[in-house]
Amino acid sequence: MPEKRHFRAIKGTRDILPPDSSLWNWFEESARDVFEAYNFREIRLPIFEQTELFARSIGTHTDIVAKEMFTFEDRPGSLPDPRKSVLVDDYMALLEDLLKRGELPNSEANRSILSQLREKMVEKQLANRNIGRGSGMPIRLEEYNKLALECAYLASVIELGELLTLRPEATASVCRAYVEHSMHALPGDQKLYYIGPMFRRERPQKGRYRQFYQIGAEVLGQSDAPVIDAEVLEMLLVFFHRVGLTRTTLYVNSIGDKNCRPQYVELLRSELQRVKNSLKEDSQRRIETNPLRVLDSKIPEEQPIIEKLPRISDHLCADCRAHFAKLKDELKLRNIAYEENWRLVRGLDYYTRTTFEVIAEGLGSQNAVCGGGRYDGLVELLGGQPTKGIGFAIGSDRSILSIQETGAAPPVHPLNVYVAWMGAKAYPAAVGIARKLRSHGLTVELPPEEMKLKKSLGLADKLGARYALILGEDEAASHTFTLKRLADAAQKTLTENELLEYLESEQRGSRA
Ligand code: HAM
Repeated sequence: MPEKRHFRAIKGTRDILPPDSSLWNWFEESARDVFEAYNFREIRLPIFEQTELFARSIGTHTDIVAKEMFTFEDRPGSLPDPRKSVLVDDYMALLEDLLKRGELPNSEANRSILSQLREKMVEKQLANRNIGRGSGMPIRLEEYNKLALECAYLASVIELGELLTLRPEATASVCRAYVEHSMHALPGDQKLYYIGPMFRRERPQKGRYRQFYQIGAEVLGQSDAPVIDAEVLEMLLVFFHRVGLTRTTLYVNSIGDKNCRPQYVELLRSELQRVKNSLKEDSQRRIETNPLRVLDSKIPEEQPIIEKLPRISDHLCADCRAHFAKLKDELKLRNIAYEENWRLVRGLDYYTRTTFEVIAEGLGSQNAVCGGGRYDGLVELLGGQPTKGIGFAIGSDRSILSIQETGAAPPVHPLNVYVAWMGAKAYPAAVGIARKLRSHGLTVELPPEEMKLKKSLGLADKLGARYALILGEDEAASHTFTLKRLADAAQKTLTENELLEYLESEQRGSRA
C-alpha cells in the first residue's frame, strides 16, 4: 500500500457542497426559465479550445490573454526518448503512427525531422553494434554518445500538438460554434445561452476564483438594432429580480465603432502622453498597448487625471450617437433604471458600441456581477460572414454570494419524510412506502440500518425532516403508518391511501 496522503482543492478552486449546491441549482434553473421565456436556447460548449481563438477574440494585450490563461500543449502522452530506443524500425513506426493518427501535427517540418531522425537512428544503431568490437572502444563509445545526443535533439524539435487553453470566457466559443455550424443560415437571430465553469489565473480573493462560473447569453444575427440591446438588458434584469438580486446598479456606455473609435483612441493616447509622468507603471504601459484600459484604473492618485481626459461620448460618430440615444430611449420604455458611465470600456477587446456592467452591493472590490456588450465584427474575425452580436455573462459565484449575504435566498430542498422503521417484518413495507412517496414527488430518507425509535427520531430532527413515518411490526401487520410532525409532535395513524392523500395536499399547500 502506498503511504497515505491528503489532497486539497487547488488554490482558487472550491467545492460547492450541499445545501449551497441546491441554491446553485435553483439559481441556474431560474436563469433557464427566464431565458427560455425570451426564446433563448442552450448551447453546450467545450471547456477547452485552441489558444489562438481566445488570443484573437479577447486581444493579446488584455490581462486575460497576457497573464491569466491556463494553457497547455496537447502533446501525446508517450513520446519516447530516442536515446533509450535501440530498434530504429520500432521507434520510427511509433512516431509515424502518432503522425498518422493526428496525435502529432502532420506538418512539413515534422515530416522532415522524422526523416533526419530515421537516418541518425540507423547510424546510432550501427555504432551501438560496433562498440564492443576490437580496439578503439572509447572512441566508438564517444561516437555513439554523440549520435544519441543528436537523436535526442531531433526528437526535441518535433512540433508537438497545438496550444490549448481552458476557456476564460465563452463568447469566443459561441462565435466559433456559430461559424463552424453555419448558424447564419438558420432562420432568425441565434439567441443562445450557456452555463458553466470558466478559468482565469487571477489572484484569488472573496468573489474572485480561478475556476468560476458564468451564465451567459448571446444574440447573433444580421441586425444591430438597439432594441436587441435593450431586450437583452431587460432579460438580464428580469432574471436578477427573479432571484432577489435587486440592490444592483446597471451602468451603460457606448465605446463607438471602427469609424469613430480609432480617432478617439489616438486623441486619448496623445492626452495620456502629456500626463504620462503622473501615471503609475501599468497605466504608462497601457498608453501604448491599450489606452482605453487606462480609464479602468482604480488607483486613487490617477482618478483626478482621468476625470480630465477627453470622453468618448463627445467623439462618437453620428451613427454610434444615434444608436446609443435609441438604446437609452428603449431602456426608458422598459422602465429600466441605468447610469451612464463613460469610463466603462471593459477588459476584452472585442466590444463595439454598447458596453454594460451590473454592480451589486456588499461584495467589496469584486462587485461586478455581470458584464457584457456588443461585439459586431467578432464573427468575421473568426472567419465567418459579417454578423452582429451582443451578449452578457453573469458571474454566478458573486451573484450567489450577494444573494446569501442579503438573505434573499429561498429555502431549498426540504426533507419531507424520514422513515423510522423497526424490526425485520417492517423493513419490506418501509422500502415499499419510501419508493411510493418518492414517486409522488416527495423527498424521503430511508435509513439503511434499523435503529431504536428514539435515535431514529433524533436523527430525523437533525436532518430537518418535516415528518417521521413510524413503521414498526404492529403497523406492518395492520398495513398502517404512524405519521409524526416533528415541529409539534402531532401524530396520526393512517392507511397508505390516507397517507398519500394527506402528504400530497400538504405539499400542494406549501407550494401555493
Ligand atoms: P467579464 O466581464 O470578463 O465578461 O466576466 C463576466 C462576469 O464574470 C464578471 O462580471 C464577474 O461577475 C464574473 N467573473 C469574471 N472573472 C471572475 C473570477 N475570476 N472569479 C469570479 N467571477 C468572475 C465576459 O466574460 C464576457 N464574455 C461577457 C460577454 C458575453 N460579453 C458579451 N457577451
